[in-house]
Amino acid sequence: MSLKVKGLSKAYKDNVVIDNYDFEINPGEVVILLGRSGTGKTTFMRIINNLEEADRGTIEINGKVLAKDNGEKAVYGTLSDRRAYQNELGMVFQDYQLFPNLTVIQNLIEAPLAQKIADKDTLIEQAKGLLEDVGLSDKADVYPATLSGGQKQRVAIARALMLNPSVLCFDEPTSALDRESADQVGALITELATEKQKAILIVTHDTVFGEQIGTQIKSSTEFANK
Ligand SMILES: Nc1ncnc2c1ncn2[C@@H]1O[C@H](COP(=O)(O)OP(=O)(O)OP(=O)(O)O)[C@@H](O)[C@H]1O
Ligand SMILES: [Mg+2]
Repeated sequence: MSLKVKGLSKAYKDNVVIDNYDFEINPGEVVILLGRSGTGKTTFMRIINNLEEADRGTIEINGKVLAKDNGEKAVYGTLSDRRAYQNELGMVFQDYQLFPNLTVIQNLIEAPLAQKIADKDTLIEQAKGLLEDVGLSDKADVYPATLSGGQKQRVAIARALMLNPSVLCFDEPTSALDRESADQVGALITELATEKQKAILIVTHDTVFGEQIGTQIKSSTEFANK
């Protein structure tokens, strides 16, 4: 098992967005999360990415615990516990969030270098390998502004893979892409699941894409049985 969420609850004042929700994702699975606007998809993504705190529940990846419910509330761990959890998880944002003033390869090595995960030469070698995997070997030294939407998306994926996470999350990965680029990204995601055994969670409104690449489709109406 990769990500395990148990008894998750989250409310904003009296708006209960997520109510005692259980969720699991295993290596090789591609879970598609569909659902109407306002049903909590982004809230769920933000919670499992440690961008927002849960009220209740336990959240862990491969035994690395982000939060543990103590019977009353979700208790968050120390900074180093949170970091250990976060290194198990990669996130690709809807707007990619690439650093515009850094080249593609610098974008990839920035975070692991700051965390002193490995020395610079090792990280550059690893980054080159990942750029090759996503079909962008020739773009290592250019700036993000010179890339197409689909290419930026693939750089963001390569960057998310630098810490070798077991779970990858995508928020609306195809919303800014034409069908051909969406298909390319879809093929890449399928490969990451089948060959690298990543567990992948995708929030999307694109049902064509979801049905093409999903191994499971879930509805965000289950968050609070709305
Ligand atoms: N920071 C916040 N403060 C207060 N309420 C919030 C906050 N973030 C989200 N909400 C509320 O939580 C509910 C779920 O919002 P969320 O953004 O998770 O929905 P969503 O499923 O991602 O919607 P969409 O498909 O439109 O992106 C909504 O009722 C929203 O108003
Ligand atoms: Mg949303």
